[in-house]
Amino acid sequence: MPERMQRILVTGAAGQIGSELTAALRERYGAQNVVAADIRENRSAKLMEGGPFEHVDVTQREQIEAAVIEYRVDTIFHMAAILSAVGEEKPQLAWRVNMTGLLNVLEVAREHNLLRVFSPSSIAVFGPETPPDPAPQAPPLRPTTIYGVTKVAGELLGEYYVHRFGLDVRGVRYPGIISSETLPGGGTTDYAVEIFYKALQEGHYTCFVREDTVLPMMYMPDCIKATMDLMEADGTRLTHHCDFNLAGMSFSAGELAEEIRKHLPDFTCEFKPDKRQDIADSWPHSIDDSAAREEWDWRASYDLRSMTDDMISRLSKKLERGKL
Ligand SMILES: NC(=O)c1ccc[n+]([C@@H]2O[C@H](COP(=O)([O-])OP(=O)(O)OC[C@H]3O[C@@H](n4cnc5c(N)ncnc54)[C@H](O)[C@@H]3O)[C@@H](O)[C@H]2O)c1
Repeated sequence: MPERMQRILVTGAAGQIGSELTAALRERYGAQNVVAADIRENRSAKLMEGGPFEHVDVTQREQIEAAVIEYRVDTIFHMAAILSAVGEEKPQLAWRVNMTGLLNVLEVAREHNLLRVFSPSSIAVFGPETPPDPAPQAPPLRPTTIYGVTKVAGELLGEYYVHRFGLDVRGVRYPGIISSETLPGGGTTDYAVEIFYKALQEGHYTCFVREDTVLPMMYMPDCIKATMDLMEADGTRLTHHCDFNLAGMSFSAGELAEEIRKHLPDFTCEFKPDKRQDIADSWPHSIDDSAAREEWDWRASYDLRSMTDDMISRLSKKLERGKL
């Protein structure tokens, strides 16, 4: 079995995935052993008061280093990033945060002999030339967004640290992540989360991609499970490191609206594609994740129906408490 992680730093911990990952890691490894770090706070008291929180800007290497030293960190889950839609608005910022930030994390990990680093990638590494159904594990990667460019470079940089310095860097290509705790941070698949909030709050949603747009998605419990399972996997079984394809479910925006209507029959949805449609059109529809299945026994649990049931139930309860 791999050496157990003891003291963990989560960068970008206030974000959509970081906030729920931090909670899950605190449950497993002890609240005081998991340091949440971000440049902003999260409105959830659970994250802010559930264990240590530090202001860490990942573009400032000394801030990462200070947290690693202060808390005797041995593992970093590096979730800080600029996502696809915001990246297209601010490409220079996307490069700085996604590339300089990752390099800083890897350098601090190398210099302080850390045990392991998690560096997430994305289906954004694929481009219009990728076979879309399903996207293979190792096609030529020619993305058309700056976000995708940073994710391809990030995978390669992680692999370089594995082979050149023996640092244990691991990562998956997340599909669009759907969740009920923290809102997404400016990606192309945000519609698949926003639609639930608008359906419950207003009974209507204007979706920014076409009704027939099919993208790979995953429900947050599967995302957290995949992240923790890979980081706890026996490293001797891994032939891939930073670029595992990961599949959950695939559906069109229209099918998602239809599934929500089974719970909320009066819900209406119109489709008005904006610039994000171009990004969506450059990504595959489904993913071949056989490498993850073979090397660390990955299996997704949620499909469109079970995810929708759970999202509606959780968000309805939040709405009743006035916390949506
Ligand atoms: N959510 C998805 O659907 C999805 C899909 C594919 C890949 N990913 C990847 O997963 C990771 C986490 O994504 P997320 O959805 O939680 O993103 P998010 O936008 O919700 O959160 C990112 C966090 O990073 C923080 N951040 C931004 N700049 C920073 C800086 N300079 N220093 C420190 N923190 C900074 C933000 O404040 C934010 O809290 C990212 O690497 C992202 O590319 C996410």
